[in-house]
Amino acid sequence: MFRRPIIAGNWKMNKLLREASDLASGIVKELSLIKNRDVVLCPPFTALQMVGEILNSSSIFLGGQNLFYEEQGAYTGEISGCQLIDLKCKYVIIGHSERRQYLKETNLIINKKIKQALKCGLFPIFCVGETDKERKERKEKMVVERQITLGLKGIESPRNIIIAYEPVWAIGTGNTCKAEDAENMHIFIRGIISKLYNKDLANSIRIVYGGSVKPDNIDEIMSLPNIDGALVGGASLDVSSFCRIVKFKCKKF
Ligand code: PGA
Repeated sequence: MFRRPIIAGNWKMNKLLREASDLASGIVKELSLIKNRDVVLCPPFTALQMVGEILNSSSIFLGGQNLFYEEQGAYTGEISGCQLIDLKCKYVIIGHSERRQYLKETNLIINKKIKQALKCGLFPIFCVGETDKERKERKEKMVVERQITLGLKGIESPRNIIIAYEPVWAIGTGNTCKAEDAENMHIFIRGIISKLYNKDLANSIRIVYGGSVKPDNIDEIMSLPNIDGALVGGASLDVSSFCRIVKFKCKKF
């Protein structure tokens, strides 16, 4: 089954407006001819509107890094799904490990956020992944299964969801997951989707890898049969490294 590749850049809490403008403009210019793959930029909330305007003339999509699970109201400091849609976002990252760790987001909160995102018409990029300790204790599959099962609880069709497997120990560390281990986990995740839903959905859902993706490892990552793209942090903050990642070379596509 053909799954359209997708590369998303997660800028995290980086870039002032001028820098965000330079980065987005540079990417648009460099990727003007790119075809056959989806590209998403997820700047901080402060730069969403401006980056959205820069992307307007391109085929690159805009994404938020988070949303709140209520529709609107007295929730100081939060941003709603409709506000993201209003800014022309198509995607939203949900359940990133940094939010699980620093903001204490639980599987229940993440589940509510995914439901709210779908309700608003957003495509969630749902992050899962084990910590170093959990991998050392060989609990990585158990942890990921639990995150997915609870994160998708009560969701009838996760067709518009992209799952991002991001082993926490690989994020921002330069330690990419071994190709074989990443591929194995992606196969395992398809198995979970097949159990929770059905085989067709398991074959069609996009599962991307995240964690120290760089220009020099993207080609190998994308050559793996069950990896459909990448969620890129550090390397998405620079025009040439991000564009090289988007232009990955691989016979699969
Ligand atoms: P990294 O971050 O590419 O800097 O490891 C990935 C992520 O957090 O999504």
